[in-house]
Amino acid sequence: MTDQAPAPYAGKPRVLSGVQPSGDLHLGNYLGALVKFARLQHEMETFIFVADLHAITAWQDPAKLKDQVREIAAAYLATGLDPKVATIFAQSAVPAHAELAWVFNCVARLGWLDRMTQFKDKAGKHKERESVGLYTYPVLQAADILIYKATHVPVGEDQRQHLELTRDIAAKFNHDFGAPNFFPLPDALTQGPGARIMSLRDGSAKMSKSDPSDNSRINLTDDADTIAQKVRKARTDAEVLPEKLEDLKGRAEAENLVGVYAALSGRTAQDVLTEFAGQGFGAFKPKLADLAVSVMAPIGGEMRRMLADPAEIDRILTAGAEHAREVAAPTLAEVKRIVGFWAG
Ligand code: TRP
Repeated sequence: MTDQAPAPYAGKPRVLSGVQPSGDLHLGNYLGALVKFARLQHEMETFIFVADLHAITAWQDPAKLKDQVREIAAAYLATGLDPKVATIFAQSAVPAHAELAWVFNCVARLGWLDRMTQFKDKAGKHKERESVGLYTYPVLQAADILIYKATHVPVGEDQRQHLELTRDIAAKFNHDFGAPNFFPLPDALTQGPGARIMSLRDGSAKMSKSDPSDNSRINLTDDADTIAQKVRKARTDAEVLPEKLEDLKGRAEAENLVGVYAALSGRTAQDVLTEFAGQGFGAFKPKLADLAVSVMAPIGGEMRRMLADPAEIDRILTAGAEHAREVAAPTLAEVKRIVGFWAG
């Protein structure tokens, strides 16, 4: 007998992703995540949630947390996620995430978590003061993904390591409990035109909600004037735009603005250069401002409209959670049986 290659995972392809309700969403989240969610929903069964369990790994005002969840949900809907197509819900409304996370806490090794760079970045010098939840954050993330046996996870580049950990947890669970292929080994989908949107004030730093300067980012809720003003104030250089992409190297701010233009217009960066070659930022910025306003301002407007009367958002989240619980239940029951739990 020859060794047989292990059978591939036979479950159906599924997309899952989520965003934490812990701060304003910006252009980087929009291009790097939300736009991808809206596109993928038409390609595969899609689950998109609001990660409120993850949010409390750092302090959140209990009086505001529900509204923060609604705001992320509004952003999903305003970007084109369709509740008739995708399942949209709040993480805390599906207890199976937390239940599976406990089992995974007993599968993941301390050594694996010790290597997580996001924890190191967030905790800084004083890790002893952080919540234990922040440390096991990526284990809960693995549970978010695997409770639906998701196979594709659209996330930013910074989440790649958490996806590797998810695969390690899935493989170790399958192996240790003698359940080959029970969990898939999901793939991170990090590619795309919006993969790396940089700060408008510093082309070497990622656009981030934690940057103290609000001018460094375009928030989803900024109105048209604010968006245009931020683009006009964006840091640039004194050169004209080149004809070829490789000639943008070393000009981080210029490269970023060309990338933003390309991502917002659905064109390639080379295409954008072909149109603007030889022009300076005095000419390019107003065009970029118009484009940014035309794409982003309606999204902010739609979010404000929905949030003014959140009954519809709440209804969508309630129905989404109901469906998510139904899909999660058989997987959790199987896990309990496989582990040998008394109740399951
Ligand atoms: N950690 C992700 C982020 O900060 C959010 C998240 C939580 C997530 N659970 C997830 C993303 C599951 C994808 C899948 O962006």
